[in-house]
Amino acid sequence: MRKLFIAGNWKMNLDDVGAVQLCQDLKTQLAGCGAAKVDVAVFPPFVYLPIVAEALRGSTIAMGAQDVWTEGNGAFTGEVSVDMLKDVGCTFVLVGHSERRHVIGETNELLNKKAKVALAGGLNVIFCIGELLEERQGNKTEAVVEEQIRLGLAGITAEQMANVTIAYEPVWAIGTGVTASKEQAQEAHAFTRKILTDLFGAEVAEATRIQYGGSVKGANAAELTAEPDVDGALVGGASLKADDFMAIINNGASNVGGCGGCCCG
Ligand code: 13P
Repeated sequence: MRKLFIAGNWKMNLDDVGAVQLCQDLKTQLAGCGAAKVDVAVFPPFVYLPIVAEALRGSTIAMGAQDVWTEGNGAFTGEVSVDMLKDVGCTFVLVGHSERRHVIGETNELLNKKAKVALAGGLNVIFCIGELLEERQGNKTEAVVEEQIRLGLAGITAEQMANVTIAYEPVWAIGTGVTASKEQAQEAHAFTRKILTDLFGAEVAEATRIQYGGSVKGANAAELTAEPDVDGALVGGASLKADDFMAIINNGASNVGGCGGCCCG
């Protein structure tokens, strides 16, 4: 089984005090976990990255940014480069989150550039995909997801895939309280792995972690991550409170290695 990867996307939430407090609470609660059975990362807003990096010092929690620009440092008002993200301690970046695709209007082609520049610069990428409600209702889920993967990962090598996580986040499940059923999640993840096999071969596809995102909470984390192709979660709302996020981590970890939680060392 692939090691689970639970990540918290804070979106445009919290303030400086709240961001530091959340990190301290997570650090304390994760500290007793010994050989943690899940990888954990947080994705704060750009402006809080430096204080979050400081607050996370000495912990195993990784930090990433929610977005990145396609070019290196230069005349790109308002944007943030790969080098800047690495400078403040990011090791991850989200690319193609549904809010970037559907609220901001980012295209598959732009997201492909972002993924390539982030990987070339040494960041790990969580590449997000997922269909709208009307696309699911119109039986277009597989076509949409396949296009997002093929166009989004075009030109990325099999070697670079070692630094890519896919996040399947059906848009209708994000922030709605409606979670995909474990069967729906498994079906979409297995399909995603099939496309990855076609693009990069079975070994790479098997090793690539595919997170589920969309109204994940403590109460559904265990059943979702028990599915064979669900390798973790990308969590929004429930990542903003340490207790809620820890419930997801612990319930996910209950599926890993025959242990009743991540705290058995
Ligand atoms: P929610 O967990 O709030 O539904 O958000 C999911 C998400 O968009 C994570 O990137």
